[in-house]
Amino acid sequence: MSDTLTLVDHPLVQHKLSLMRDKECSTAKFRRLLREISQFLAYEALRDLPLTTRRVETPMEAMDAPVLEGKKLVFVSILRAGNGLLDGLLELVPGARVGFIGLYRDPETLHPVEYYKKLPGELGARPVVLVDPMLATANSAIAAIDNVKRAGAKDVRFICLLAAPEGVAKMAQAHPDVRIYTAAVDSHLNDHGYIVPGLGDAGDRMFGTK
Ligand code: URA
Repeated sequence: MSDTLTLVDHPLVQHKLSLMRDKECSTAKFRRLLREISQFLAYEALRDLPLTTRRVETPMEAMDAPVLEGKKLVFVSILRAGNGLLDGLLELVPGARVGFIGLYRDPETLHPVEYYKKLPGELGARPVVLVDPMLATANSAIAAIDNVKRAGAKDVRFICLLAAPEGVAKMAQAHPDVRIYTAAVDSHLNDHGYIVPGLGDAGDRMFGTK
């Protein structure tokens, strides 16, 4: 396994992921489970955030209580499926700044085509967490990370629900400084760039499209 990857294999995460894989899982349930798992993934991805202290008066006495230090962090959702992870992250970190990068996969080449981008400022001074549920070929993730690095980001992390070994290897080669946080690494990619056994098209399952 790549040393740029953190596998978040908590039993609750594994259980929820198995429910999501089931093709009979409803759209509403799929979205709820993705939001729940995103918070376990974020818990790991953000565990090294720096802290400072703030003077707080408890009902008992004053103390120097730990609070997050530095500029607000940034979540960047790779549209559209990234939004399913973003919702959960924003519940945990409501003050985070949010960027969006719209990429679709050309079905012939499997290469990403950018159609939208809006990023917050001062990326170089903030941890930047990119989110996309499926790390398959990694072409979109790599293009999105290229993008935020060009905009100045230095501390970049990547959260996905599921990864393929091919995608993990490609990311490690393209961006060895970017740690990947995922709930599972599946067997392989099929000829259409889908993760096997996977869960199908995450965007379609999340939004009820086909
Ligand atoms: N994107 C998806 O939604 N599913 C896959 O299996 C691969 C890419």
